[in-house]
Amino acid sequence: MRLDRYLSNRGIGTRKEVRKLIKQGRVTVDDEVVLDPAYKLSEKDVVKVDGGVIDPPKKVYILFYKPAGYVTSTNDPHSETIMGFLPKIKGIFPVGRLDKDAEGLLIVTNDGKFAHRVISPKWAIEKEYVVEVEGEITEDRLERLRNGVTLRDGFFARAKHAEKLSKDALKIVITEGKYHQVKRMIAVVGLKTVRLKRVRIGGLELPREMKPGEYRFLTEEEVRKVFEGNDQKEDRTCTG
Ligand code: URA
Repeated sequence: MRLDRYLSNRGIGTRKEVRKLIKQGRVTVDDEVVLDPAYKLSEKDVVKVDGGVIDPPKKVYILFYKPAGYVTSTNDPHSETIMGFLPKIKGIFPVGRLDKDAEGLLIVTNDGKFAHRVISPKWAIEKEYVVEVEGEITEDRLERLRNGVTLRDGFFARAKHAEKLSKDALKIVITEGKYHQVKRMIAVVGLKTVRLKRVRIGGLELPREMKPGEYRFLTEEEVRKVFEGNDQKEDRTCTG
């Protein structure tokens, strides 16, 4: 991040004000005066103004029960977004997406590295969904989901786990997050998604007591839980 942006984000002043401070030689990075407002900071840099350390922003991780009917985005010109349910914290964004009509577990954070690791197919973090469907959930259909199906765009999608829960509902675990992936996989095997709910990301489950629209901050231990069982790099994606 640029030095002037970092300082104004930390509430030191407006962009114009912090640029003035920088030009006056009152700002140091790793104890050296920096006069360029566009100076690019790296994560380990220690920034001081008049000798006082300006701490980097605190990382926040929010567990949110997304209700159906809201767009997973920080802003949208046409629809209501999830942001109205969440605390007003600068720089937070949803980790991945749930469709407007989908519900369930969504993590919201200001930590880009964390988000990248959760989303990246390289890390193969499991995402578990409960899907209510129209059509008969046969073992043959579940087997096709487990063996993998080719979606219309050529993406080969495989369920790490697929299991019948009741006459109308199944559980599916995937490790990627392609556009409408679960719905499209379900459609390829001849079923129709009626309701889609994400109930787990990695080792982090949607708490049973939570209701749609509620959120709470994650503890450090819960943040670690997201990566539980996923400490090896595994690339399960392939196309064709
Ligand atoms: N798969 C879908 O089809 N939709 C979602 O929102 C998430 C996964």
